[in-house]
Amino acid sequence: MKILVIGSGGREHALAWALYNNGANTVLVTPGNPGTAEFARNISGDPVEIAEKESVDLVVVGPETPLVEGIAGLLAEKEIPCFGPSAECARLEGSKWFAKEIMAAARVPTATGKVFKNHSSAVDYLGEYPDKFVIKADGLAAGKGVYLPDTRRESDAIIEDLFKGSLGKAGTSVVIEQRLRGREVSVLAVCNGIDAVVLPPSRDHKRAYDGDMGPNTGGMGAICPPPDVPCDFGEDVRERVILPVLKVMKERGMEFRGVLYAGLMITEYGYFVLEFNVRFGDPETQAVLPMVESDLAVLFLAAAKGEDLPPLEVKEGASACIILASGGYPGSYSKGFEITGLEKTDSLVFHAGTAEEDGSLVTAGGRVLGVTALGEDIDEALEKAYLNADRIEFEGKHMRRDIGRTV
Ligand code: AMP
Ligand code: GLY
Repeated sequence: MKILVIGSGGREHALAWALYNNGANTVLVTPGNPGTAEFARNISGDPVEIAEKESVDLVVVGPETPLVEGIAGLLAEKEIPCFGPSAECARLEGSKWFAKEIMAAARVPTATGKVFKNHSSAVDYLGEYPDKFVIKADGLAAGKGVYLPDTRRESDAIIEDLFKGSLGKAGTSVVIEQRLRGREVSVLAVCNGIDAVVLPPSRDHKRAYDGDMGPNTGGMGAICPPPDVPCDFGEDVRERVILPVLKVMKERGMEFRGVLYAGLMITEYGYFVLEFNVRFGDPETQAVLPMVESDLAVLFLAAAKGEDLPPLEVKEGASACIILASGGYPGSYSKGFEITGLEKTDSLVFHAGTAEEDGSLVTAGGRVLGVTALGEDIDEALEKAYLNADRIEFEGKHMRRDIGRTV
């Protein structure tokens, strides 16, 4: 099969790698990165035009923005199968309130919440105990739209900023919901509109520093599967969350074909959905896909066309991905530092923020590389991943040392 992957991060490197590695597939990536160039063809330009010109059999969309903007519809007009949902379906990620309404109709467990369109009603709702709530910009905010205030002063300032336009249109509606406490797990489901196959569960580590301290990042590492999660968890989430959501969406005229990512919190009262994404997680994908044995192209194409999904073969054991970030990330950081030591590694290394400059590999983003290793269990996977992460050098390199050790 000839497949075009859209995106340039670690997630897309892992997707392209799995599509290339697990089947007899030719992979193109737009725009891609120096890692994908090692086995795939990187092309720049308009993705729909590239897909048409190259007569690809399937397009796999990495990031949410093209999905929310309707790339699936543009590809459908050209009769090119797209693994990634329509703009209407992508509202499950593009509007937190839309997701809440669908969850209510599907009777999916989620935190109780309300939507607000103005400052005073939102502030009244929060009352004297803002630390019992989470404040969320309704729209897409590139991972910056969720706030967990501790004091009244903090929550007032957040609400005021959002309605003043600090996140643009994303914050003109604000969702406030009950704050849940527990362990977070991500479940990625490949959906064909009515049915789904779940990938093994994983766990991201969002804070910048050890002990879950410091600012939120795009993700500093992931493990798959989390050892504290029961082995039938994915199947349970498929039955209680994914399938009911697909059913309600279909009843409303929307067939979800692509990855539905459920971000869950396991609490003492059971598990709840915190959020949906309509794409693969980053860096979960870099930990999850190396655990898959099957040819993903066959699965993704069946999902894209709304056909029966083949079963998924998954490896025994566990995997861990450690992110190597630029010093200062997620705040400001410098770029252009030479990256050395890759030739000493004997695990998977997925590129995210890298570039080629005068024949050497240099840093070009906040999250630079993701080092993934597999093992018989999570301890072995982590040991190998850290061993390899230590072999790679660049000025200012920062990584968390406790991936897989916190929940
Ligand atoms: P994001 O992936 O940027 O939407 O951030 C979502 C993160 O906010 C989750 O991973 C949780 O850590 C946190 N979060 C979201 N909703 C809640 C909630 N109801 N209770 C507690 N934490 C939440
Ligand atoms: N790892 C979180 C996300 O991809 O949204």
